[in-house]
Amino acid sequence: MQRIESVVLYYFTGTGNALKAARWICDEAGRRGLSWELHAIDRELRPDASVLSAHTLAGFLYPTHGFNAAPAMLKFIARFPRARGVPAFLLNTRAGGKFFRWVTPGLSGLAQLLPMLLLLMKGFSLCGGLPLDMPSNWVSLHPAYGRRWIEFIVTRCEGVTRKFTGEILAGKRRFGKALASLPVDLAISPIAVLYYLIGRFCLAKTFIYSHNCTMCGICERNCPVGAITIRNGRPYWSFRCESCMRCIANCPEKAVQACHSFLAIIVAVAQVPFTLMIVRELPLLGPLNYPFVRTLVNGYCTLAVTFALYAVLQRLLLFRPVNLFFTYTSLTRYWGTYRAPGITMNDYRTDSLSRRHDTAAPPGVRRNGDHSNR
Ligand SMILES: Cc1cc2nc3c(=O)[nH]c(=O)nc-3n(C[C@H](O)[C@H](O)[C@H](O)COP(=O)(O)O)c2cc1C
Ligand code: SF4
Ligand code: SF4
Repeated sequence: MQRIESVVLYYFTGTGNALKAARWICDEAGRRGLSWELHAIDRELRPDASVLSAHTLAGFLYPTHGFNAAPAMLKFIARFPRARGVPAFLLNTRAGGKFFRWVTPGLSGLAQLLPMLLLLMKGFSLCGGLPLDMPSNWVSLHPAYGRRWIEFIVTRCEGVTRKFTGEILAGKRRFGKALASLPVDLAISPIAVLYYLIGRFCLAKTFIYSHNCTMCGICERNCPVGAITIRNGRPYWSFRCESCMRCIANCPEKAVQACHSFLAIIVAVAQVPFTLMIVRELPLLGPLNYPFVRTLVNGYCTLAVTFALYAVLQRLLLFRPVNLFFTYTSLTRYWGTYRAPGITMNDYRTDSLSRRHDTAAPPGVRRNGDHSNR
């Protein structure tokens, strides 16, 4: 690998884990006297290869969603111009779990493999891949972890990330951790595909506002993919939502909930015999009448019904008793939320993060060589 003179990182984050990892890497680069740039991927950022060269290390950091790279990152890499010979690495943050006193690893599935393939097709020269087991932020699935446990996992991940960065910057190639779980990752890849094609759209339709929403618009302004629109004066989650958990973690009124009773309705709808019957009997499928295709068609039928029911639900939520019912049957109301330690709302803003090392960094963003405020 050529001598590295600067580091350019592109990250997508929901609740700050990928951003924390990106900052540790910038810090390591700064310690070695290298310049760095940090770019948040959101609705504003356009891929630009002009800052990259054979002496620039490019890094792509993102959360794992449904055994995939976050869709925003996949789209960003897919749109990236060709960058021949530019060294690049991938870092996917995953759900580090808790089993008594042990940290359990998350599952990458295709989260490393697919972006690796895309980067190779773009001409990048891959030099590393790191799955990083940060605290899980999937609070619509499980209760948020306690502070002490979160601190423990984050400190552990900081050490792993700094070591990985040092090795990459020293010119070594590091794929061991990314490829260690390859058999499992390939085994769950069909689930990853189904999540990408169907599951994520269903999950996006489980978010609701509760009766204490003050219509401040913070969730709308801070959604990284512009998935929230205001309808009837209230937030509405469109199909663009990636379930990154940012809105649920940052609502000042704790008014965003993942609505488990509505999820139960969707699951019931998925069982509705007419959906299954339509597909089984569908003569149009003809030679394509395979289980995977039937699952897809079933999934999209269910999705269509889900979208329609969600539009109705949003209207009904304007009535206080209905809103109270769905709010109090949302487990997230009792489970708490997750945001990476030390990450505040301001840190998400693109304009505060896309900085060259030699410009003044705003509060919360460290300059090249400034090792304080970890
Ligand atoms: C909708 C959703 C799906 C997720 N899927 C996975 C997964 O398949 N595998 C995994 O290890 N972690 C999964 N996670 C956990 C996140 O990848 C993990 O908490 C990550 O560190 C969050 O990073 P961020 O704070 O930068 O968004 C999922 C989280 C969410 C919200
Ligand atoms: S951030 Fe919370 S209070 Fe503000 S509009 Fe969104 S849901 Fe309502
Ligand atoms: S709507 Fe909320 S969960 Fe969905 S992408 Fe936007 S911030 Fe993330």
